[in-house]
Amino acid sequence: MDFQLKTLSTAQAATEKCDVLIVLVAAGNLSSKDPLASLVADARKAGDLSDKAGKSLALYRPAGIVAPRLLLVSVGDGKPGSVRSGVLAAVSASRSSEPKRIAIVFAQATDAHGVRSALGAAADASYVYTTTKSKAEPRSIRQVVLGVADSGALRDAFDEAVATVAGVELAKEWANRPGNHCTPTMLAEAARELGALPGIKCEVLGPKEIEKLGMGAFRAVAQGSAEPLRFVVLRYQGAAKEQAPVVLVGKGITFDTGGVSLKPAAEMDEMKFDMCGAASVLGVFRALGDIRPALNVVGLIPTCENMNDGRAIKPGDVITSMSGQTIEILNTDAEGRLILCDALSYAKRFNPAAVVDIATLTGACVVALGGVRSGLFSSDDALADALLAAGEASQDRCWRMPLDDDYAEGLKTNFADVANVAGRAGGAVTAAKFLQRFAGDFPWAHLDIAGTAWKGGSAKGATGRPVGLLLSFLLARVGEGAADATPRKGRKPSKARQAA
Ligand code: BES
Ligand code: MN
Ligand code: ZN
Repeated sequence: MDFQLKTLSTAQAATEKCDVLIVLVAAGNLSSKDPLASLVADARKAGDLSDKAGKSLALYRPAGIVAPRLLLVSVGDGKPGSVRSGVLAAVSASRSSEPKRIAIVFAQATDAHGVRSALGAAADASYVYTTTKSKAEPRSIRQVVLGVADSGALRDAFDEAVATVAGVELAKEWANRPGNHCTPTMLAEAARELGALPGIKCEVLGPKEIEKLGMGAFRAVAQGSAEPLRFVVLRYQGAAKEQAPVVLVGKGITFDTGGVSLKPAAEMDEMKFDMCGAASVLGVFRALGDIRPALNVVGLIPTCENMNDGRAIKPGDVITSMSGQTIEILNTDAEGRLILCDALSYAKRFNPAAVVDIATLTGACVVALGGVRSGLFSSDDALADALLAAGEASQDRCWRMPLDDDYAEGLKTNFADVANVAGRAGGAVTAAKFLQRFAGDFPWAHLDIAGTAWKGGSAKGATGRPVGLLLSFLLARVGEGAADATPRKGRKPSKARQAA
């Protein structure tokens, strides 16, 4: 989709050529006296336009307006969350007329947060998945013009938001693809294509290299599948070589049957989404290639299927991880932590400033937090605070969960150094405790996105989360010292953040 930023007053918006003109109205009076502003004032006086975010008034061929359809939408207090609900409601409503070009205009002054929210919401509400449909109706909306009072001041925020949308949509695309259209090989190929972007390099390892590295836990999960595993190493270099990178690790199970500990049939199709962590890493790199911040970032994606087969791992099997720790597999459905633990061991070689893994790891996290916030686990308070703040700033929120050692009791076993599952209680935390054993000394955080990465039911589909959170977290680190995990309070303007 093509986004454009323009300086548009309400008077200028009235002359904008588009199929639908969406005017975002915050509480408080409009200062101008043009036809559009008068229309807003009249509608309010008549009680036809409430101040509640998301409430709207549709008009057809209103006098003095070039666009045939006009949607006045309230964005309440004008805060990011309200802008998001206003734009979501308006763009969703406008879709019935299959518009090609829409204009979204802020009737009052807005800021960088407003621009980001409006763009993100417009993209979310107009997204359509088409890849595996034979008679696909493509996304009708081709062009979105965003009108603000002063486009010059908001240009950097706009460019960043456009890049974020591209990253979110790449993540959605790969996450939505069914398992037979998104194998480990195909996912690695998608990563390799990102290697063509400026500043990005991609390396893909296969079964032989993984065996040589001693990644026995990752291999164990892959051994029950006819599809060969892949291990993706993405590198974005935007800062001096010496600067320690942030390493992102994404769980890339392209389909999770549960293995011998087979999952129930109901909703098992949704386990094609078990690579949403990996998809979010791809999305982040897509955006980094556009934004080009002065940072170094490494992306690691262990990807394979978790299948049921004659060669598959069995409950009770003991395997040796890359770290040397032996693991008793008590449940083959707890496979995510097995592929992640070896990737965490691999992360050490980058001498990282911080490591963040992103995984659809546990059903227990869905029970704990639902689809609203991702679970955040971290041994490092500064890193945790930075991720929490990034979640708020991007409206892609997370919630910190505990990591007390007492939670690790259930992982003890008589037959290996550690078991891959504890009891049912506190399942999201015990999974994180398992990962923590492999995280080494560097600041580490784990995001359990099992509840937030996709929606079920009639709206079934990937959300693109937590690409927004991760980008916001990374961009806030620009200008930081090499080994410092603590982000600065403020963010420098985008030009200053850019790599040379
Ligand atoms: N991919 C699943 C987690 C999951 C389940 C995400 C349902 C979203 C919805 C993961 O591999 C898994 O199966 N975890 C098990 C762990 C258990 C065996 C300790 C789970 O959550 O049931
Ligand atoms: Mn599983
Ligand atoms: Zn899984």
